[in-house]
Amino acid sequence: MLVSGTGSNLRAILDATASPDFPAVVAAVATNRTTCPGLAVARAADLPTRSFPASTFSGDLEARDQAVASWLLSEGVSLLALAGYDRILTRPLLRAFPGRILNLHNSLLPAFAGTMHAVQEALNHGVKLTGCTVHLVDEDYLDGGPIVMQAAVPVEDNDTVETLLQRIHEQEWQLFPRAIALLARGELRVEGRRVFRAGRGQ
Ligand code: GRF
Repeated sequence: MLVSGTGSNLRAILDATASPDFPAVVAAVATNRTTCPGLAVARAADLPTRSFPASTFSGDLEARDQAVASWLLSEGVSLLALAGYDRILTRPLLRAFPGRILNLHNSLLPAFAGTMHAVQEALNHGVKLTGCTVHLVDEDYLDGGPIVMQAAVPVEDNDTVETLLQRIHEQEWQLFPRAIALLARGELRVEGRRVFRAGRGQ
């Protein structure tokens, strides 16, 4: 997993993977930050962790992502989950895990794509419904890969960013492990922009 923030989704995934029938384990956790609370969550779970700040690579983001990819592969990672990772992946990482990268975004994409402030922007815009999205990460455009799952969260009149984000998080903690499990089990079929459960759809 890649994290940059608080790591509440990492925690939810760790809880999910504790179930014996979950088809994946968290093998390693990397961050672009020198440190972040999500890294502390990973360390507390005795997971291999590593920090890859761009400054270590003189700002060369492809060199950074090549190092991230090499380390993840050396740790046996075969599926990459981005949980609050606040950097755009460059080609070395995208190409190390083709069709095997999932991102979580706290809006109903394609609304409020490309921002780490999607909840604030949803409130500013006055939408009545927002939520969260898990999508495959490809090279096309930011937050634009094929959508795997979404959950809707109604906006209440008295919502603040904090209260709305809390309810979105509660959906994310369910949704992301379910999407990871489907990809890990090989139960996703991608046709263009549409993602189906294998054996379902057209
Ligand atoms: C999540 O709301 C996710 O949708 C967004 O960043 C947030 C990460 O939260 N991309 P956490 O670090 O997992 O608590």
